[in-house]
Amino acid sequence: MRKPLVAGNWKMNGTRESAAELLRALVQGLEDGATAEVLVCPPFVHLADAQRLLRESDIRLGAQSLCAEDAGAFTGEISGAMLRDYDCSYVIVGHSERRSLYHEDDALVARKFMAAIRNELVPVLCVGETLEERESGTTVEVIRRQLTAVLNAAGIDAFANAVIAYEPVWAIGTGRTASPDQAQEVHREIRDILAAENVTIADSIRLLYGGSVKASNAAELFAMPDIDGGLIGGASLEAEQFLSIVRAAE
Ligand code: PGA
Repeated sequence: MRKPLVAGNWKMNGTRESAAELLRALVQGLEDGATAEVLVCPPFVHLADAQRLLRESDIRLGAQSLCAEDAGAFTGEISGAMLRDYDCSYVIVGHSERRSLYHEDDALVARKFMAAIRNELVPVLCVGETLEERESGTTVEVIRRQLTAVLNAAGIDAFANAVIAYEPVWAIGTGRTASPDQAQEVHREIRDILAAENVTIADSIRLLYGGSVKASNAAELFAMPDIDGGLIGGASLEAEQFLSIVRAAE
């Protein structure tokens, strides 16, 4: 049985005050526990406050990116060890915004994935096709390329401690969610690609769907057999929305 995971990707939003308020509301809302594992990924500068505010709760803490290197002259970067220091247990790797806006290619994403593993952080590896790629019928090819780059570099065993998020680029922040069937189809492909290397790991890895998940569409997505939770952007910034999505995963 795969334990569902609902992760909030706050992106570059909020103030110190609003971040603390949101965290307090989540802690309170989840006081009685949740069947799903719950993860929040605030901006780096809010990690210290988050570490303190989440100390007594089961909510897990993660970051939105990390440096592929462990230490040294890398101005502006944050290492895996630094994230561990703030009790992060997860880190998002290869988000489409990093790929498209900051030119992170498959090779760099693979190095970041390995940096996460090396530092005992669970990478949440994001993959997904653009609208153009979907319309030209290359969705599976794109996902396979993105996954293979990491598989070749890190090896299948590293995926025993990883999570994959399928996030069609056309669904991110657009209000246009993939249908449960569309998402399930790609999730199945992802599991098949991994199963060709190791069936046990393919069966146990959690595959999240991301892209305009809301309280109103979460349950039907999470009901699909290969969807094990969600990576939530916009809707993770409102406590009530996010808590409803967590409940939809139960
Ligand atoms: P969204 O973002 O939920 O706002 O579409 C998802 C993501 O980018 O992880």
